[in-house]
Formats: sequence, C-alpha cells, structure tokens
Amino acid sequence: MPTILDGKKLSQTILDELSAEVSALKSQGIQPGLAVILVGDDPASKVYVGSKQKTCEKIGILSKSSILPAATSQAELLSVVQQYNDDPQIHGILCQLPLPHHLDESEVINAIAPQKDVDCFHPDNVGRVLIGAPRFLPCTPHGVVQLIKRTGIETTGKHAVIVGRSDIVGKPLAAMMLQKDSGSNMGCNSTVTICHSATRNLEEVCAQADILVAAIGKPEFIKAHMVKEGAVVIDVGINRIDADNSKGYRLVGDVAYDEVAPKSSAITPVPGGVGPMTIAMLMYNTVKSAKLAHA
Ligand code: GUN
Repeated sequence: MPTILDGKKLSQTILDELSAEVSALKSQGIQPGLAVILVGDDPASKVYVGSKQKTCEKIGILSKSSILPAATSQAELLSVVQQYNDDPQIHGILCQLPLPHHLDESEVINAIAPQKDVDCFHPDNVGRVLIGAPRFLPCTPHGVVQLIKRTGIETTGKHAVIVGRSDIVGKPLAAMMLQKDSGSNMGCNSTVTICHSATRNLEEVCAQADILVAAIGKPEFIKAHMVKEGAVVIDVGINRIDADNSKGYRLVGDVAYDEVAPKSSAITPVPGGVGPMTIAMLMYNTVKSAKLAHA
C-alpha cells in the first residue's frame, strides 16, 4: 500500500510552527498582516478566500479583506491594491484569481509591491525563483516540495514529470525541482520534464516519472497505465464534478486515485493533499514578509 501524503496533517504541523513564531513576533510588537482581495462571486474562490481568512485568525495573523463586486473597474481594483501597498499593518497582499474577464490580471499583479507579493506572482519574484534566489516561494509549488521533502522522499537525480505549464504551478514548480538542493528551501536537484496539451507521447513520458505531478485541471486525467510502478504521485488538481449529494458536486483530483494509488509508492489524496499545504505556505510567506519588513 502506498504512503498517503497527508497534507492536512503536515499543514497543521507547519501552522503550529508558524503560530509559535507569530506569538514571538507579537511579543516584539510585530503582528504579521495579510490582505485578501476577492472580485466577483466565483463559488470556489469564495471558499478559498474564506479558508485563508480563517487560517490567519487561527494562527494570530491580522486579516483584512476587500470583497468587491464583479463589476469593479480596473482603476478601482488598482486603488485597493495601492491602499494595501501603503498600509504598514499589511505584509502580504493576495488578489484571488481568476479575475472577471474585463479586468487585466497581469496589470494587477504588477501593481502589488514585490515585498508584499506573498503569492509570488510578480515578475520580480518569479525571476528570483528562476535564478535560485527567492524572496518568496509560490504557495502551491512550495507546498508540493514541502510534502515531498518532509516525508523524506529522495529527489536528487530523480525524474520529475510535471503535467501542466501554468504560471502558478507547473512553471515555477519545474524551476524549484530543477534547482540544486542548497539551503534555499526549494531545490530538489531533480531531472525535470514538463508536459502539456501539445506534448507527443504524453502517456509514455508520464510513465517514466519517478515523481509525477498532475496540475492540469482535468478530472482524473492520469490513469494507471500512465504511472510507473512505485512512482510518487502528487495531485494538484481540485475539480468539481456533478454528484448526487446535498452539495450537487464532489471534488476529484487530476489523478484517477483508485486505480493509480495501488501502483504508487506515495500519493496525495484530494481533498486533503496539496490544497491545505497551499494555505500553510501562504501563511509562511506572510510571516516571512513581516520578518523581512522589520529586519
Ligand atoms: N487562484 C487559484 N490559486 C490561487 C492562488 O494560489 N493565489 C491566488 N491569488 N489565486 C489563486
């Protein structure tokens, strides 16, 4: 049976560590603060934003939020960002994506002060990750790396295949797993392949992975025949599919868990795998930002 990579449990360990750190900072008169901006009423985004706010409260981080209507203009949104850039109580600013279509996401990301960009989406911070000199690490990729490393899974020289080339997960995770393991908290020293919708022989490439990461947003895309016996399987997907229950949907990952799990040596469940780790690493970045601001 595979090791279940329990993100819920590990994220709690990390949150306990952070909670102690926040208490220590508070005793020096420093309270980390996170501002969350949500535009519109995408149901999944509302859930994510709610969990982020709740987690802040649990570990003693100040949480401010701006919940804006879908019709918010670009100028209004930029002025909210600016207000948080100028707010000394705020060390991290997160604008939940995706934004409604009339808004320019990259202009908003560029407007966030890089020192407060706890998502690590700003080009300055993305570039720093690429050269192995990070200010912050992007939350979901960092969560994946922590799950792997803290479980004691060897990554050096291993073939990591990442399915998905998004700016939020696939690309930065590839940079981090490629990085030499040299104390920057992210390097895995792996051999990295990225697959995407135009990849030829995608199934064969996946089947060569020692560590297979699925981050494509397609429910149960990774089937058993695409997975090598003994591979470590990390599922970043959270997809809502119709179900005959009170919610009307259930959550499934990008991996067909029931058929893949028996072949794997370790696997993340959905929910309870990468998801909670993402939030823990957001809290980590917020605490780090507060420390950097007062260093
Ligand atoms: N939408 C999906 N994931 C994320 C995330 O990590 N940060 C933000 N800001 N929006 C998201």
